[in-house]
Parts: sequence; structure tokens; C-alpha cells
Amino acid sequence: KETVLSGIRPTGFVHLGNYFGAMRDWVRMQEEYDCYICVVDWHSLTTHPDTKELQSNVYRLMGELLAVGLDPEKCVLYVQSDVPEIAELYLYLNMMAYKGELEKTATFKDKVRQHPNNVNAGLLTYPVLQAADILIHRALKVPVGKDQEQHIEMTRNFAERFNHRYGEIFPLPQAFSYGGGLIKIMSLDGTGKMSKSANQMATLYLADDDELIRKKIMKAKTDSGPTELHSVKPDYIENVFGLMKLVSSEDTVAKFEADFNNCVIRYGDMKKQLAEDMVRFMGPIRERAKAIENNKEEITRVILRGKEKARASADATLQLVRKAMGVNYTG
Ligand code: TYM
Repeated sequence: KETVLSGIRPTGFVHLGNYFGAMRDWVRMQEEYDCYICVVDWHSLTTHPDTKELQSNVYRLMGELLAVGLDPEKCVLYVQSDVPEIAELYLYLNMMAYKGELEKTATFKDKVRQHPNNVNAGLLTYPVLQAADILIHRALKVPVGKDQEQHIEMTRNFAERFNHRYGEIFPLPQAFSYGGGLIKIMSLDGTGKMSKSANQMATLYLADDDELIRKKIMKAKTDSGPTELHSVKPDYIENVFGLMKLVSSEDTVAKFEADFNNCVIRYGDMKKQLAEDMVRFMGPIRERAKAIENNKEEITRVILRGKEKARASADATLQLVRKAMGVNYTG
């Protein structure tokens, strides 16, 4: 079986972008691949130095991962800081990464804009740590949303440089999505990608209750409708259709597509329908997450079990790496 790795930061509530961009694929992949799913707490420190809520965020996120269907019997679900081998590989990979390329990374430039007073070295080398997450298990496929594509490309570059210098240790990983193209869910106000830090009323969280889901969807950005037959949809309208394709029936989508093409679409009706389908889709996940969240003991067991399996795999890779580099002196 091929090895798969993906990660998610414990920086806030899981939203629909995380779910449809990545988590949904993880649940499916655990049936077919050797899957490692990592809660990347070190990554969250690059932008969230205050650790007061870190523990509760990690536990809630673990609960949400279990609630969407990840099964610790089928995949290795673990926390990054439980695997110190990742930090050692990160150190070696830092020698494969150039300052210039790190400064040019799109996510780095975004973060500099968002947190101009905390442009720390961890933020600059964020993609190197991500590469270490992936390469420590010698993963081949990395199921992620569109925003992570550049990081995976950088991972390949670091791995190639390492292989070139020290020998073929790492397979070159690829970003993956079952749908083919990587997914980008936009925020409901149409201002950019849905994200943990964007406008909360324009972000649908897995934890939102039914009323809040309805309220947010009814506020989603639309306009007065097309005026020409078969127009091209603006981004924000495309996004509402995109969400509908994810949770509504094909017939429902086809009806509103036809209405759009014929210039008779009523976005109010469309959003009402989407809200009901979304509530039906998200309700059971939320209720499962609530039930698991209260079971701290169970989550602790999951974390400990994941740690053991992840470390075994990580240690095996690190031995190969040290040997290839000649960074071992006693045999
Ligand atoms: P993070 O925590 O921001 O997001 C987790 C996953 O959700 C996807 N995602 C989206 N997909 C589509 N549309 C959106 N609006 C949207 N928002 C988020 C992300 O693409 C991601 O797949 N750097 C990573 C975490 C990470 C990682 C790794 C991922 C660390 N190490 C190793 C893969 C492999 C991040 O910040 O994801």
C-alpha cells in the first residue's frame, strides 16, 4: 500500500474548506492506503504563540477528526510534537532550503502581511517543517486543498536536493484529491478562501448549530441574477453552486443551473434549499463531535496509540537518513 500523509493545524474550529478540501479525502483514503494524519501543533506556534488554548484545541480537533470518520484502527492519527524525529529531519532539511525561495512562498508573504510584528524564523521555514512531516514517513500522496499546492512542490524540491546529495532516500510526494483538481472553497462573502481567521459569519464551521448554518448561508453573497442567457457565473455565485454540488442532490443542482441559464434564478430560494441540505449534511457530524469531545479519555488513548505508530515509522526513516548522511558514528 502507498503511504499517505496529511496535516491540519489546531488553530481554531474546523470549517467546510478543511472538510471538503482535505478531510473528506482522508476518510476515504484510510480504506485504501497507509494513512498518517497529523495534528500539527508546532506549525500553529508560528502564528499562535499563546498556548493557553492549545491543549483544548488539539482535543477538540481530534474529536472532530474522529467525528468525520477517521478510524484509529485504519489510520495513524497523531500529534506532531509527539514525534521528535520530525524536528530532527526538519533540521537536516533546513540545509536544503534557500532563504530566497522561502521568502517568495505565497503563504509566507500572506502571513507577513497579517502578522507584521511577528515575522519569526519558524514562519519563514514553515514549508520545511511541512516537508519534514511528509518525508518522515516517505509519503507519496498528500491530500490537501489548493492553498497547499506550493508547499508540496517545495517538499519535492527539498527531497530531490537531499536525494541528489546523499542518495535516494525519499520518494517525491504529490498533492492529491480524489476529484483530480485540488479544491478551494471560498468564503461566503466572496472575499477569498474560507479560512480559520477570515470573517466568521462568512465561514461555516463543523461546530455551527442549525440556525447559525441557515443564517450564514442566507447571508452568502449573491446579486440580482444574470441578465443574459447562459452567462458566466461570478466567483461568489460559482461558490454557492459549488457548495450545493457538495451537499445537495443532482436534481436540485440541475434545477438551479437551468434557472440560472434561463435568467429566472431566485437566489433566496437557492440559498434556502442549500441551507436545508447543509443542515442535514453537517448535523450528524456536529453531534458525533460533541459526543466524542466529552470523552477525553478516549481521545487520550487515540493520541497515545498514534504516537507509538508514528514514531516507529519516523524512526525507521531517520535511521536511513542518518546513515545516508553519515551522521552516525558508532554504527
Ligand atoms: P490547514 O490547517 O490550514 O488546513 C487543513 C487542510 O484544509 C485545507 N483547506 C482548504 N481546502 C479548500 N478550501 C479552503 N478554503 C481550505 N482551507 C483549508 C488545506 O489545504 C489543508 O489541506 N500547512 C497545512 C498543514 C500541514 C500539512 C502538513 C498538510 C502541516 N504539515 C503536511 C499536509 C502535509 C495547513 O496549514 O493546513
